[in-house]
Amino acid sequence: MTTKIFWLARSGLGIGTATAALCLAVLPLRHSSAAAAAGVHPGPMSRTDAFARAETLTALGRKIFFDPSLSASGLQACASCHDPSHAFGPASAKPVEVGGGEHMDRPGLRAVPTLRYLQAVPSFTEHYYDSEDEGDESVDNGPTGGLTWDGRVDHGADQAKLPLLSPFEMGNKDAAEVAAKLRRAPYARDIEAAFGATVFDNPQEAFDAAVEALGTFEQSGPDFYPYSSRYDAFLAGKATLTARELHGRQLFEDPAKGNCSSCHLSEPANDGEPPQFSDFGFLGLAAPRNMAIPANTDPGYHDLGLCGPQRTDLAGHSDYCGLFRTPTLRNVALKKSFFHNGYFHSLRDVVSFYATRDSDPGRWYPKNSDGKVRKYDDLPQAYWDNLNQDPPFGRKPGDASALTDPEIDDIVAFLGTLTDADLLLEASGH
Ligand code: HEC
Ligand code: HEC
Repeated sequence: MTTKIFWLARSGLGIGTATAALCLAVLPLRHSSAAAAAGVHPGPMSRTDAFARAETLTALGRKIFFDPSLSASGLQACASCHDPSHAFGPASAKPVEVGGGEHMDRPGLRAVPTLRYLQAVPSFTEHYYDSEDEGDESVDNGPTGGLTWDGRVDHGADQAKLPLLSPFEMGNKDAAEVAAKLRRAPYARDIEAAFGATVFDNPQEAFDAAVEALGTFEQSGPDFYPYSSRYDAFLAGKATLTARELHGRQLFEDPAKGNCSSCHLSEPANDGEPPQFSDFGFLGLAAPRNMAIPANTDPGYHDLGLCGPQRTDLAGHSDYCGLFRTPTLRNVALKKSFFHNGYFHSLRDVVSFYATRDSDPGRWYPKNSDGKVRKYDDLPQAYWDNLNQDPPFGRKPGDASALTDPEIDDIVAFLGTLTDADLLLEASGH
């Protein structure tokens, strides 16, 4: 179903929220079980009814998203980690957020991603054939799509279950614990109005209703995919970029220089849809091990992304170890920690890492006592073949950097044009 939302949302850009939300409401009824069980699923809806239902659920989902009383501590809402003024990414510079339990003492394992532009993420598949853009339809692009850094869930509503129940996020024991909190919430009557007067009789129904509302809220165009950056205005012929930004864009797209746009798509698709700055593919880039993540103090623990341990269904696929989903770069200038493990804290460092990972590995990876650089130190050597070696990677130690310092600065300047208009005050630090 996500694919359909994707397609309809694409074709319906002009009417943003309404279209995507409508899709959630009218398309075959993945989300229907809760509502049907609640006895109120309206069956096939007229367009007007579908719009109205989407609006109701969006308003309800928004309340739930900001409600800290749904966490075990009573202190943490979705918005605590996914801050709307930071493109629904983290406001803090911590590599991972602490959550969970009554005492909020369980640190997470991964950096908090932005929730903007997820409407374009296709459902996870191991074999992705690109029928859009300039892609060659016969080429298998490999594992693509799905939500989270390892793509282990496909729908906003399913995703919402994870933090509500995760011991290191909102820390509830089970759906019943969440349902009891929903029943006491100021918007409990709204849930009954939308899902039926008996919705609280069955805790699982109440829980499913809440995650459906959250999933619908996350499809709201003005909140989650406004396409209002200066780069969007530039593509529409309504704004200019500075000489440095233009040069940065050129380097970003040049296959012999940054080559960034081979994964972070930067040009409109053939149908005119604005670029998402991701092809949602899974790649291994070998971010250095982040010792600021407490789990990493255990030398036996490795976050291998697609092959586990958080994702479990692809555990036997050693060729997937070390791969993470390519994130969008829209609003990336608002972030303070980068990559799945939050290792990097400035965009300049990220771009420099791309340029010199292989030509100057000693700059990024720790050294053994004998002075030997422990290259790719967060990935067991058995999986090194999975790492991407295309430009700007794949140089030999001692080679020149793929990008000069001024070129790196220009790419960073270009990335700054991807911040949505409503978030620019944040970006300038006011
Ligand atoms: C303690 C911090 C924290 C809280 C609270 C939290 N999240 Fe997240 N969220 C994360 C992290 C970390 C990830 C990445 C998880 C991963 O990759 O395994 C994530 C991932 C996501 C994603 C997938 C993003 C993507 O790029 O695919 C969605 C959607 C999401 N969260 C929604 C929510 C909702 C809805 C809530 C409230 C019910 C919530 N989150 C509460 C930290 C948090
Ligand atoms: C081969 C595909 C590929 C290429 C080429 C590529 N990236 Fe990425 N990019 C990724 C993936 C995958 C990640 C996530 C890696 C991780 O977390 O381990 C990422 C992460 C990032 C991030 C961090 C985003 C965040 O939310 O944490 C930035 C910034 C970034 N890339 C910029 C660039 C720039 C600039 C270039 C060109 C110099 C580039 N990328 C080239 C695939 C690619």
